[in-house]
Amino acid sequence: MNNKIGRFGAGRAMHLASCIALAVGLSACGEAEKPNTSTASSTSQTVLQDSAASNSIDVWPALKPALPRNEQVESHIADLLARMTLEEKVGQMMQAEIKFITPEEVKQYHIGSILNGGGTFPNNDKFATPDDWRQLADDYFAASMDTSDGGVAIPIIWGSDAVHGHNNVIGATLFPHNIGLGAARDPELIRRIGEATAREVAVTGVDWTFAPTIAVVRDDRWGRTFESYSEDPEIVAAYAREMIKGIQGDKSSEEFLDGHHLVSAAKHFVGDGGTTRGIDRGDTEVSEKELAEIHAAGYITALESGVQSVMASFNSWNGKRLHGHKYLLTDVLKERLGFDGFVVGDWNGHRFVDGCTVDSCAQAVNAGLDIFMITAEWKALLKNTIAQAQSGEIPMNRIDDAVSRILRVKIRAGLFERDRPLAGKNGILGSDEHRAIAREAVRKSLVLLKNNDQLLPVDAGKNILVAGDGADNISKQSGGWTISWQGTGNTAEDFPGATSIYTGIKQAVDAAGGEAVLSVDGEIKEDTFSNNAKPDVAIVIYGEEPYAEWHGDIASIEYQLGSKADQELLQKLKAQNIPVVSVFLSGRPLWVNKELNLSDAFVAAWLPGSEGAGVADVLLTDADGNKRHDFTGQLSFTWPGQVHQTVINRNDVEYQPLFAYGYGLDYTSDTQVANNLNEDGESYVDGKLEDAWLMVSRPRAPWKLYIEEEGSDLQWVNGNLASSADDNIVVASIDMLSQEDARALTWKGLRAGSVVLHTQKPQDLSRYLAEASALTMEVRVDEMPTASVSAQINCDGSDCSGALPLQNTLSKLPVGEWAEVSIDLQCFAEAGADFTKVSQGLSLHSKGKLTMAVANIKFVPGAREQAQVRCGS
Ligand code: BGC
Ligand code: BGC
Repeated sequence: MNNKIGRFGAGRAMHLASCIALAVGLSACGEAEKPNTSTASSTSQTVLQDSAASNSIDVWPALKPALPRNEQVESHIADLLARMTLEEKVGQMMQAEIKFITPEEVKQYHIGSILNGGGTFPNNDKFATPDDWRQLADDYFAASMDTSDGGVAIPIIWGSDAVHGHNNVIGATLFPHNIGLGAARDPELIRRIGEATAREVAVTGVDWTFAPTIAVVRDDRWGRTFESYSEDPEIVAAYAREMIKGIQGDKSSEEFLDGHHLVSAAKHFVGDGGTTRGIDRGDTEVSEKELAEIHAAGYITALESGVQSVMASFNSWNGKRLHGHKYLLTDVLKERLGFDGFVVGDWNGHRFVDGCTVDSCAQAVNAGLDIFMITAEWKALLKNTIAQAQSGEIPMNRIDDAVSRILRVKIRAGLFERDRPLAGKNGILGSDEHRAIAREAVRKSLVLLKNNDQLLPVDAGKNILVAGDGADNISKQSGGWTISWQGTGNTAEDFPGATSIYTGIKQAVDAAGGEAVLSVDGEIKEDTFSNNAKPDVAIVIYGEEPYAEWHGDIASIEYQLGSKADQELLQKLKAQNIPVVSVFLSGRPLWVNKELNLSDAFVAAWLPGSEGAGVADVLLTDADGNKRHDFTGQLSFTWPGQVHQTVINRNDVEYQPLFAYGYGLDYTSDTQVANNLNEDGESYVDGKLEDAWLMVSRPRAPWKLYIEEEGSDLQWVNGNLASSADDNIVVASIDMLSQEDARALTWKGLRAGSVVLHTQKPQDLSRYLAEASALTMEVRVDEMPTASVSAQINCDGSDCSGALPLQNTLSKLPVGEWAEVSIDLQCFAEAGADFTKVSQGLSLHSKGKLTMAVANIKFVPGAREQAQVRCGS
């Protein structure tokens, strides 16, 4: 296994087919022509060739289908197939989103499946009741069975992301996200959670959950790290087996898919957790052996448990997209691993396959995709896929195979009978019984990282200050995939029946005769406590804000890179000699040395979900001062001690974590953690300063993008499209190699203005200057500038900004093609930039018209020599 720190460090190749290494002479600082300056290393090319040369099927176990062939089911399939038209067959292969399709259209086009994406609700109503959900499910079902216009009745199947409980539905039990469950190390608990989740989903008439995610996450910068049980295949494999049993029921019992148990989807096949630099939907550059043994470990056990669907992943394996990967989808998954259910695509994921568009992708079907997950463009995709079957571009036997698989699952799941024993039993949703399981999971997921002088458990009879913006914040403790897709925009009213961490503490303290007071900002007044005394202890609850998918990708694992609000809060309490317990809410391990140094005790609480009382169950004693529950959680992810340790995993050759995989204290431990952990946040790999990424796919924290124009207000670029007030400057997300991984910048020339990567807290980047770095970026000029353009590195004050003319450099680039541009940082310094307090990491300023695109903006140590734009120094 080759996965030690720094494996994908500086100089990692981007295989940008159209990225040409340019010898643009230049320059802004008047230097002579430089030789060809590709910074690409050959590493990824090597991997590519290796894997292309020979696939080695024998690294995968040969599995038999999990369920024995059932002749009755197979003849039912054959009978249906024989009666279906091509249009009906292809209709089965479409999964449309409920925002984009009506029941009437399901009937008309014989659509086989629907989904609700994150943040989509029946009637567009966030507060849709369980009855509203069920009614809509009934309407779609009735439409699918309505043969009044001819055709064969095939029940529709509705899928939903019930990834930590039935999380799209108000009032559902929200279990801890997978990362917390991983720490619980309790496969039996996982099975009960799967079972409870399936029951809550069944109440609403939904048939299928897009869960579990069985990614094995290797780089904690990935925005979906929290959806993963562990960085190690051991836990993921054990949990996948049980989660599938929980959701679908035991395959060899009567409970299998009995309506209390539903269809499950193992996702995302395969390698989603292994992408280089943790980029969502990126490229997993590993050997086939590593793919099979690490990333696919959960699929083996999920298949053994009889999982009925597998979701293809957005990512590529060594440059080739999974949605179009015949070898992995067909040769490996369906043949070698004996999978007889269906493969569903991910959200328009087929469109990234070479040669495909969102509405046309024969390649995916031919590779083995059985159902397209398709949003707005489902009609066009349906039409094109039918045409491709007619022309023979997609062989008929492939269509028949796909439809057989879909029908097989629908028959097994009893959808033809539509016998739904739980539909409408609304009391099951968020029931006490299910909440008790979630609360148990919260208790078991907590990992005690530090407990100096055995500060914990806290005596519940004392004065307890509860601080931090995560204390009374169910939205924050629940993370992404909670009611909305990103988990943002929710308030306390959106969580009926849920308990915040503070409320749980207060209940326990009240019961024990102590006093708990909430003070989010940590302010303490004389009369904060009724006995006018100081707090005996402060419990401070803080951490990451919710995010999902690529919105959560980060460049640095330093916690609160841009702001230091929580450190200041901890400091304020420490300064008053109040013992501090940190309860850290996060979707991944982060570099928190500073926060650890400021805490006497530190608990990793992950994203516990709706049952915040589980935290108090462990942290606080009973009235007699006795512990109630001990800590049992153990890290399922290695905790980093250095800010560059983004890819640090159990069994690494060089393994120097702060807290190793498996670590977790309990009340019998007397381990003291030093209070002077290294606070140098600079990022080194093998002793070398790491690249500083300002933008990769999206601006990386602490950097944010805005548009600045003379005479008008700043416009922040938050979504994928933004423009200045007068529409003169437009910034739009576009695709370079993957979805929205680049920005198109347009200046219409009405007036001068800039597009800026800004940080609120000025950054000291002088190390980069000292280490002979260059600013590098991918650039595509679509329309040459009509007036002067500059690249600038600026600070907030005067006399500390440096601007370099860029027009000349741009004018030498080939129009419409991506190319790398690199500029010696020294040039900015010579032009006046003060690198000790940079607030604009890059500002692109144009006086006239210009249309260009940029991507991958970074400072690369040691790249000065090869920079195209050089200056004397
Ligand atoms: C995600 C999947 C999810 C699907 C439907 C995709 O963007 O990658 O995990 O199941 O959307 O919401
Ligand atoms: C997500 C969906 C979400 C959608 C919003 C997708 O990538 O998977 O669940 O609703 O984006 O645009």
